Amino acid sequence: DAWSIILFVLGYLLLALVALRILCVLYNIFVPYVLCGCRRDLHARAGAKWAVITGATDGIGKAYAMQLAEQNFNVFLISRTQSKLNDTMKEISTRFPSVKIMTRAFDFTAPTYEDYQPLINELSTIKVGILVNNVGMALDCPEVLHEVEGGRPALARISTVNTLPVLMMSSAVLEQMVTRKKGVIINVTSGTALNEMAYWNVYSAGKHLKGYVGTLHIFGPMQVETMSFLEPSPEKYVRSALRTVGVVSETTGYISHQIQVRRQAI
Ligand SMILES: NC(=O)c1ccc[n+]([C@@H]2O[C@H](COP(=O)([O-])OP(=O)(O)OC[C@H]3O[C@@H](n4cnc5c(N)ncnc54)[C@H](OP(=O)(O)O)[C@@H]3O)[C@@H](O)[C@H]2O)c1
Ligand SMILES: *[C@@H]1O[C@H](CO)[C@@H](O)[C@H](O)[C@H]1NC(C)=O
Ligand SMILES: *[C@@H]1O[C@H](CO)[C@@H](O)[C@H](O)[C@H]1NC(C)=O
Repeated sequence: DAWSIILFVLGYLLLALVALRILCVLYNIFVPYVLCGCRRDLHARAGAKWAVITGATDGIGKAYAMQLAEQNFNVFLISRTQSKLNDTMKEISTRFPSVKIMTRAFDFTAPTYEDYQPLINELSTIKVGILVNNVGMALDCPEVLHEVEGGRPALARISTVNTLPVLMMSSAVLEQMVTRKKGVIINVTSGTALNEMAYWNVYSAGKHLKGYVGTLHIFGPMQVETMSFLEPSPEKYVRSALRTVGVVSETTGYISHQIQVRRQAI
């Protein structure tokens, strides 16, 4: 009768939906990391020789600086501490002597456009092909808003660092990238942006902004620390993440993280 036909059709539709969902998930894992998981020539996409990296003297940012220098990009390094910038510069120039390096000490907790003006002027003097919006701060530990360690000053710093730099830096380099019709922007976000996470509000919300405002390329790393499949070193993580540039516009950057996230999607 009519009912069994309707149920029959609905059943098949449901199955098709589930199959589609699973296919999507597999696609998201296999295309960037298995099928297209080879090293990419970023120069064609970047269209200019300089790579600008925020928070470039430690962890993920430093790994981006090293590997972009390895790919023969000139690097413009930004972080707070000049001595760390000098050390990183020395390390890069020893390993890759032909690469040009510029450094600038800048504290991204700076809250106004005027604070950025000198930095933005300096950026306009070089041809920027790649911008890595890496700098970010997390809460030391998740906590209800009024009991966050460091109090309101910490809340102000964290929300500023996780939101303003990506807006100021991206809009500044986009001017030249759009004219050139080439360029790569990598937003380093976080797994916390994917889910609503209790007590991580300022951090997670800031990472949301980086991830969902728009256009070019975002990476959301999960945990990066020790040498293992689940938690790669920053070097291993960045090597994998750079291979996805131009293949997908939004990804975790690392296959085991991608599997974790996509599994949640099912
Ligand atoms: N590590 C992880 O497992 C993980 C997971 C998810 C997301 N992420 C995200 O990945 C990004 C990098 O994380 P990471 O763990 O590699 O960071 P990290 O090891 O703490 O490195 C921080 C870098 O940023 C600089 N920096 C810190 N605060 C700054 C400020 N206010 N102004 C300018 N520079 C500043 C530091 O140099 P100075 O101290 O000299 O300024 C250093 O070069 C962040 O956006 C983070 O949220 C990391
Ligand atoms: C960094 O290097 C520059 C020159 O390369 C030097 O003038 C400056 O004193 C150094 N700064 C620190 C803090 O080591
Ligand atoms: C990266 O962040 C900037 C600033 O929010 C945004 O304009 C850009 O579209 C973001 N990229 C992606 C892929 O979301």
